[in-house]
Order: sequence, then C-alpha cells, then structure tokens
Amino acid sequence: MTHTPQPLLSHQSGPLSGDVTPPGDKSISHRAVMLGGIAEGTTTVRGLLEGEDVLCTIAALKVLGATVTREADVWRIVGTGLAGLKEPSGFLDMGNSGTAARLLIGLLAGRNFTSFFTGDASLRKRPMGRVITPLEPMGAQFVSRAGGKLPLAVTGAAMPQPVVYRLPVASAQVKSAVLFAGLSASGITTVIESAPTRDHSERMLRHFGATVTVAPTPDGAEAISVTGQPRLVGQSIIVPADISSAAFPMVAAALRLGSKVTLRNVGTNPRRDGLIRTLLEMGAKITLGNPREQSGEPVADLTIEGGVLKGITVPAARAPSMIDEYPVLAMAAACAEGTSRLCGLGELRVKESDRLALVADGLKACGAAVVIEGDDLIIHGNGQPPQGGATVETAMDHRIAMSFLVLGTATPKPVRIDDGSFIATSFPCFVALMNGLGANIRP
Ligand code: S3P
Repeated sequence: MTHTPQPLLSHQSGPLSGDVTPPGDKSISHRAVMLGGIAEGTTTVRGLLEGEDVLCTIAALKVLGATVTREADVWRIVGTGLAGLKEPSGFLDMGNSGTAARLLIGLLAGRNFTSFFTGDASLRKRPMGRVITPLEPMGAQFVSRAGGKLPLAVTGAAMPQPVVYRLPVASAQVKSAVLFAGLSASGITTVIESAPTRDHSERMLRHFGATVTVAPTPDGAEAISVTGQPRLVGQSIIVPADISSAAFPMVAAALRLGSKVTLRNVGTNPRRDGLIRTLLEMGAKITLGNPREQSGEPVADLTIEGGVLKGITVPAARAPSMIDEYPVLAMAAACAEGTSRLCGLGELRVKESDRLALVADGLKACGAAVVIEGDDLIIHGNGQPPQGGATVETAMDHRIAMSFLVLGTATPKPVRIDDGSFIATSFPCFVALMNGLGANIRP
C-alpha cells in the first residue's frame, strides 16, 4: 500500500463519553483468513478487521488459490484444502504486517513450491531469522537478506519433518509459524513456550478441526502440539473487537476525570488482558459486563470511567499478555501520580518501529521525565499530564501514532504526530471513533 504522510494534531478534550464497538481483532482476523483459505469448503467471517494488514493476508491467500469475497458485512472464503495451495506467480507483499509475514512463511514452509516475500520499509527491517531457524530443520529452504530480513524466498519442504522447538523469545508469531508448518508434516509438531503467549492459533486450529494439545513440561513450560495433515473444514467465525485497539479509547477515558466509555464485544483472552489488569492496579475504574464466549474466544463489554491514576511497576512476566499495549500504557504512566517502571521490554525494539526508543523520545519531547534502563522504561509522573506541544516521530508505526494522539487528548498543549497514515493498518476508523467519543484530533 502506498502511504502519503498525514500529520495529525490532537488537542486537549473534555471528558470522553459514548458506547462503541472497536474494530475486529487483527491477530484473529489474520488467522481466520489463513485457516479459512486452507480449509475445505466455505468459511464465513463476521467482524473481520478491514485494516491494511489483514487486506495483505487476504491478497496473499487469493494469489495462493483461495477465493475471498465480501457480501455486506460477511467475508466468505472458499478454501483450497491444504494440498490445494498453489505457487504464487509474484511477490507476496505483506505490507507493514509482521504477523502476516511470519505466519504465512510458516504455512508455506510446508508446501513444496517457492514463494517470495516482501514488505514495506518497516517490515523489511524486522527479524525473520526467528522463523527461519525452526523452519529449516522441518525441511524448508530459505534465501534472505543478511540477518534474515525480507525480501526472502522460501522453498517449502517436499516431506516436512515434525520438530520439537523451544521458543527462545516469547512470540506467538514464531509459535504459530511452526504450528502452521506442522500442519503439512506427517506426525506431531511441538512448540515449547516458557512464557504464555496469545493462543489464537491453537484455538482457531481446533475450531477448524485440527488436533492441538497442550501439556505442562517438567520445567514448568507448556508444550503445544499439533497433529499434522488434519482435515480442516470451513467454519463460521465471529471476530471479537481487538483489545489492542480498544486500548486507545480505554486509556484516553481512564485519564480524564468525568469520562465514561463503553467498548462492546472486546476480546478478553486471558493471554491478552495485561493492560486491563495493569490499569486496574493503577486505580482505573474498569468493569467487564456480559462476559461470554464467541467462536472459541472470550469477549465482554468494557466500561471505563475516568479518574486519577497512580504509577506502577509492571513485571517482565506480564509483557507477553500486553506486548502491543506498552506504548499507550506509557502515556497513562506519564499522566499518573508517581513513578512507573515497565520491565522487560526488549521485544518492543523489533516491532513496527523501535517502540522503546520512540515512546521515550516522544514522551521527553512532550515534557515527561523518562529514562530507559536496560530493557526497562521508567516514567516519572506527577499526577498531571505533561505539557505536550511537540511533534512526535512515528516511523511507520500505527501504535506509536495512536498512543501520542491519546496523550494529546489530555495535555494542555496539542500533540502533533508526523504521520497518521499507518493507523489504517490496524484501526482505520480510529480518528472518527475517538472524535465521536469527544476527542479533538484533526489533520
Ligand atoms: C501477534 C503477536 C505479537 C504481537 C503482534 C501480533 C500475533 O508479536 O506483537 O502484534 O498475532 O501473533 P510477537 O509474536 O512478535 O510477540
């Protein structure tokens, strides 16, 4: 997708109020399209995120042979069957999306043809070695740029071998890539993770008919196994609203005394709910109404009331359950009373941008007191929002852009971001939704 830089300015607003449904979950949307694309028969998806990242996955699955159409608000995917995927005749361009790239590389590592992957300037800087390492022993062959960067070519294994792979970093993308390659193997492929990461792949594989088991290991980790060559059958899926997108109105409301915002149908998977737990510990008023299950995922309606937040220490062990929410949590911490220490954020350096550096630099530019110590981010708040009045660099990163626009709803002087165009990768209606709640975000 081509992006024309789109500077945005967020002015201080009054309290936020309203009742809205944030867009569909990005992680679940990618997986629904991929598994629908390789299942036999038709999959229907409601609530699919129509952000650029997921549109890249849809475009790729079409090139690989699936039929994907939209009728009213329902996406219909006619799958190829795993064996029916066909060699793409051109590059698979994954745009800005690490999830699309890594999960599809995994899936195609088990198919015996050659696929060429590329992405935008942000994605081409991100490490793919972390999926190449476990996929090579399964029989896939790779040619990539130095350091395992895109563009890369993968020739899938003729006879994919099942492996047992222990994740060296807590990454749901790497776990999913290996499990997706394992679908083509004869036998059982196992991923061992010592920190629990989001389990949407496991849940959705089961939903489509695969056998996925989870067992504790003697050292307290978890072994997740998928039985190869399952018969995957088309399903009907309702995608919950994305808690990682809900995070922006959630924090904006929590920061402003007098706010009351309800966010409907939000995914509350216990491996994704770290931000809710953390905001509650900071003193935020959040209630979960009508908890229920939808297509194998827990969802609820969240109501957030504004108040005074206090600083907090977030342990490193919580990072996988809120890895995408640290930028916006940092905005809350900058407005809170007291010091916050967000620990173990090394993985933020390899997201769509170096989020650790950009959050620290942007907050400093807005007048907050921030230091990075090793992999920890320390933010000294005084109970008041920082001054604002700065232009923040966003480096093709949607979550950096939205986080600083949230900060601007509270700061006395407006916060300007250099480019809001990448917000369309995950939350195309962000500005309209936030302004509908009472924010004042303008070009
Ligand atoms: C994702 C996993 C996380 C997250 C990303 C989505 C997924 O990445 O940051 O936005 O859908 O599996 P890592 O696996 O690199 O932690």
